[in-house]
Amino acid sequence: MTSIAKLRIDGATHDLPVVVGTEGEHAIDISKLRDTTGHITLDEGYTNTGSCRSAITFIDGEKGILRYRGIPIEQLAANSTFVETCWLLIYGELPTHEQLKRWSSLFTKYEMIHEGLYHHFDGFPSTGHPMAILSAMINAISCYEPDLMEMESPTTFQISAARLISKLRTIAAASYKASIGQPIIYPKPHLDYCSNFLHMMFSIPFGDYEPDPETVAALQLILILHADHEQNCSSSTVRMVASSGANMFASCAAGVCALWGPLHGGANAAVVEMLQNLHDNRVDLNDYVARIKDKSTSLRLMGFGHRVYKNYDPRASIMKERADKLLSKLKGVDPLLEIAKRLEDVALNDPYFIERRLYPNVDFYSGVILRAMGIPVNMFTVMFAMGRMPGWIANWKEVHDSDGVLYRPRQVYVGSGPREYVPIDQR
Ligand code: CMC
Repeated sequence: MTSIAKLRIDGATHDLPVVVGTEGEHAIDISKLRDTTGHITLDEGYTNTGSCRSAITFIDGEKGILRYRGIPIEQLAANSTFVETCWLLIYGELPTHEQLKRWSSLFTKYEMIHEGLYHHFDGFPSTGHPMAILSAMINAISCYEPDLMEMESPTTFQISAARLISKLRTIAAASYKASIGQPIIYPKPHLDYCSNFLHMMFSIPFGDYEPDPETVAALQLILILHADHEQNCSSSTVRMVASSGANMFASCAAGVCALWGPLHGGANAAVVEMLQNLHDNRVDLNDYVARIKDKSTSLRLMGFGHRVYKNYDPRASIMKERADKLLSKLKGVDPLLEIAKRLEDVALNDPYFIERRLYPNVDFYSGVILRAMGIPVNMFTVMFAMGRMPGWIANWKEVHDSDGVLYRPRQVYVGSGPREYVPIDQR
């Protein structure tokens, strides 16, 4: 039975239906509130607003639970591959042998980008940020391969989705090569998704890069852990753009831009910069935490805190374990990892962080792993984008397959009242 919430405004009572999700989350449906009362709701930053019904990812931030299509992230991290997880997120079920074989073959078939696209890299200055290049290139793919836009049939959608995920990896590696002035390396069809990316990043024309299996496994894990995270800033951006009827490429390019900011995907780079700075300047960690708590500074402990998690981010625990394993193998002792662990310890025992329920998030340890793999800091957020692409596509598809409501929030206007235009010579 649908339950009803009652809202009293100026003495009148209004009934509002309560929507219940499959995991028991309750939401008051206010979509008719303005029609019936003339009021809108105000929730700056959408801190308590459900913007959609979605069947992709579930998070319980209080308990530290994350599931893709119902499957706990811990199980996917231990058993799945990124390519399989992409299918799961986009189609809602784990693939059969046959489905996975065809899906993987599409990734291989479409791993190259149009030769004309390579010339675009020459047009960007070497100082161009890889996230700017990535976003521009995703839109550019659709200009070179207009058939990608025809995704009305399940088959063409599947080909387009696989093409986008596969080509993103090629573009990401090529943008890195262009930025360091090295020749672009083409993909190799016999390599799996992660090994192929590392090959395009680190091989040179006369020297193939042989990735360590531990490094490939760490990349696989990073991509799986980043693959979706319900209504985060970039996925909500993708849905917003998709709701206007925009194609998957335009919508996902917008997702890349939203991800770029330091409060979202840019945090992984900010964490490593912070750890490096603490290391190089031998900063006392208790002093640093004291500075963060001082509200006269705008300093934040990067990689800590989350809008949804008020407990340890489950991705951070998996990431920390992997960081220990990979770094002890590749580097012995990594001073930045040691600083990260000590910093976590100081913060988690500090009343400021305890009271506000601030815990390490996914970005706290991902940067040290990426750094150990040889990925440069300005590519960290690109790695996040590679991981998040299946989540963006799944969200785009959910909007595309829905009834087609345009996302269009309201606002409370707080600007000037009506006033006359003043000609320029009278101002
Ligand atoms: N360091 C110090 N204080 C913090 C931090 C932090 N990292 N995060 C939140 N706080 C404080 C904040 O100052 C506020 O204190 P007060 O109540 O005294 O004003 C309180 O905690 C609540 O903060 P908020 O900004 O209202 O919380 P939010 O839910 O809007 O913020 C956040 C979420 C991720 C933007 C924030 O925790 C933050 O800036 N963290 C650092 C950046 C970061 O690591 N971002 C990656 C997020 S996870 C990856 C992703 O999904 O993109």
